[in-house]
Amino acid sequence: MTVTTIIGAQWGDEGKGKITDYLADNSKVVARSQGGNNAGHTIVIDGKKHKLHLLPSGILRKDIISVIGNGVVVNPDVLLKELDNLGDERGQLFISDRAHVIMPYHKLLDGGEESSKGKSMIGTTGNGIGPCYSDKASRIGIRMGDLLDDDIIIERLEKALPRNLALLNHYKINNRLTVEGLFQTCKEWRNKLGDFITDASLLVNKHIDEGNNVLLEGAQGVHIDIEYGTYPFVTSSSPTTAGAALGSGIAPSKIDDVVGVTKAYLTRVGSGPFPTELEDEVGEMIRDKGQEFGTTTGRPRRCGWLDLVMLELSHRICGFTSLALTKLDILSDMDEIKVCIGYKGEDGLEIKHFPSSLTYLAKCSPVYKTFAGWSSSGIDISKGIVPNEMEIFLDFISEKLNIPISIISLGPGRDETIIS
Ligand code: GDP
Ligand code: IMO
Ligand code: MG
Repeated sequence: MTVTTIIGAQWGDEGKGKITDYLADNSKVVARSQGGNNAGHTIVIDGKKHKLHLLPSGILRKDIISVIGNGVVVNPDVLLKELDNLGDERGQLFISDRAHVIMPYHKLLDGGEESSKGKSMIGTTGNGIGPCYSDKASRIGIRMGDLLDDDIIIERLEKALPRNLALLNHYKINNRLTVEGLFQTCKEWRNKLGDFITDASLLVNKHIDEGNNVLLEGAQGVHIDIEYGTYPFVTSSSPTTAGAALGSGIAPSKIDDVVGVTKAYLTRVGSGPFPTELEDEVGEMIRDKGQEFGTTTGRPRRCGWLDLVMLELSHRICGFTSLALTKLDILSDMDEIKVCIGYKGEDGLEIKHFPSSLTYLAKCSPVYKTFAGWSSSGIDISKGIVPNEMEIFLDFISEKLNIPISIISLGPGRDETIIS
């Protein structure tokens, strides 16, 4: 029996969906623990692309139980649409009664807050994630379990709506939201989703106790974590190992393996600092070849070299037991490949650790180690053979971070993977 957590080690979009789907083979339960439909996880099965925003990446397998944990924020309309798209081709689904509901006013507020920031906007996905977590922390959120009782829905709406309407008014956002209207919406959601709602912590722990393999599928990445990300250019949840345990209702000591997923390079969507960003033809080549456009918003992703300073912080916070390196195929056939091994501050001094101050970070310049590129002709996935130059690149990363590399991914498909 193993509990494995899959964590995005960078700024999101590392390929967590693919790795979750790959590892799900031996699992009974796959649970999402945080985030909401800001996530966009792509799975490619037999050449067919599936994009999931809210449903765990195990949902496509009929024998797997999918769980939306207490730490997730749920937009019921998005969830219903995703379920509809899948039809009967899916496994069982359970939703934590403690998961918070993204209400229509949260999405409107997300837009209002972003526009009011002008140039300093975060570049959120616009899905109401921040405002929903904000209401959760302010103790006026509405939970999935609340939807099961008419009186509770009304009571919660009467607490939440006035404050949210005042905020919408502040941002001059017209709306026709009323307690009665939202009550009807909540009842519709209950009619369609009520049967899925349960105490998901009990369910996940039951499967752990029975000796079944459980996968916790992280969303986002450590560097947009609310605590350790490049604040304020972050999301509002904690995409870390600790967040995974709390958000699925299990004790941290129950987690056996922590797989840090990292691209062989680096991407970011939205605003915020990016020391190794490539604003040149190499960055464009990576974007085009790697199809680096947001799964959720379609926005072009900013691209740059792999940054080991960032990964040192991710490992320090999350305790990776191994790494899954993805998109190595995108770097094939390049003359040379760079990896950032440190920063230099304004004063020329070496900086080994990712700073918390963005003003300080903005003055840092990356220090690179350059590797010889490899030829795609030297890759034979079926035989597990990779070119010598790629091995040198992988060994360096593993040794520098002191983490074994357990998976290398050389394409979006399930079979384009080598276990090392
Ligand atoms: P996630 O949010 O971490 O699940 O990642 P996304 O799905 O948003 O973005 C990763 C993209 O890269 C998706 O389109 C995947 O199908 C694709 N992908 C994953 N691993 C690989 C890989 O090793 N090589 C290539 N070429 N594509 C990959
Ligand atoms: P997956 O799970 C990449 C980014 C947004 C924005 C910031 C805040 O697919 O890796 P939010 O809507 O969460 O308030 O936006 O976080 N962001 C992501 N970037 N991948 C994601 O998810 C992301 N989820 C949020 O672009 O910069
Ligand atoms: Mg994504």
